Amino acid sequence: MTITLGIESTAHTFGIGIVKDGKIIANKKDMYTTKSGGIIPIESAKHHLLKKNETFFEALDEAGIKKKDIDVIAFSQGPGLAPCLLEGMKFAKELSKKLNKPIVPVNHCIAHLEIGKTTGAKNPVMLYISGANTQIISYSSGKYRIFGETLDLGVGNFIDTFARFAGIGFPGGPKIQELAEKGKKYIELPYKVKGMDIALSGIQTKLKKFLENKDYKLEDLAFSLQETVFAMLVESAERALAHTGKKELLLGGGVACNSRLQEMCKIMCKERRAKFFCPSNGLLTDNGAMIAYLGEIMFKSGIKFSQNQLNKIDILPKQRTDEVDVLWE
Ligand code: ATP
Ligand code: FE2
Repeated sequence: MTITLGIESTAHTFGIGIVKDGKIIANKKDMYTTKSGGIIPIESAKHHLLKKNETFFEALDEAGIKKKDIDVIAFSQGPGLAPCLLEGMKFAKELSKKLNKPIVPVNHCIAHLEIGKTTGAKNPVMLYISGANTQIISYSSGKYRIFGETLDLGVGNFIDTFARFAGIGFPGGPKIQELAEKGKKYIELPYKVKGMDIALSGIQTKLKKFLENKDYKLEDLAFSLQETVFAMLVESAERALAHTGKKELLLGGGVACNSRLQEMCKIMCKERRAKFFCPSNGLLTDNGAMIAYLGEIMFKSGIKFSQNQLNKIDILPKQRTDEVDVLWE
């Protein structure tokens, strides 16, 4: 039996998850939010420092275990905001020393993907849409390859920036979804898909202008934003399915919580007889359970750092999905 602790701290969320032989037995998190401005990395890191012990003990409680029952500690090594990543790594090293247990550094994006496999997907094309990242990923010959991605902004950051312009706070995604449900009028926006890549800066400029000029109702802008950007994502994902010949689409990342996006993906999958998979919202947004889940798989395949190797571990704020050798498949 193995009990793995997972620490997530790449951006706004401090999360602790606990996995016991592939089963999630705790998933606790606390999110840094604002009422009007965007995310400030140093402030978010302070939030993590403040919340780490509380979240840790809540997770132990939820799992019904004691500190000493933990066999291995996994943490998000990157990509992410450096000050936030540092808090997570410091906590991992602190626990490793205190409990005399090894550490497994985990790639955050691949964790989003691997946790999705708990829904039953086996060899999917994954549409990974979060704050900083927008990628279409699939496994091929030892690595998770990026088939398509955003050429400028991540969809989540793009939505959050629009929300900030509109003065409705962070995170913007859930609020924009609510507004979009009340929108009726479709306003034409620049639709940019190049192969399996997308670009959003043109839409952003246009939306900002519309907001400044008060040309349209916020509900209609939110509705048009979602319809345009999600259609671009669905088109790219469909092209990746066709290109790879794979028959499963898996969603991951916080933006995938959006019910309109899920609906559009389901329609596309039905039309091309592909299977659609999507984890629950708690596993789509940043969480410690996905870090523990992938950390445990890596640990069981022999990947680990013991206490006397802790100085070899550092954060990797710019680590890319396709840089990681997948040695555990
Ligand atoms: P990354 O994985 O790139 O490090 P992140 O840490 O910002 O990103 P997530 O928690 O995966 O990650 O996603 C957060 C994003 O999801 C935010 O931009 C938020 O606005 C967006 N989001 C959350 N719920 C919704 C929703 N219902 N509709 C659209 N976007 C949403
Ligand atoms: Fe994330």
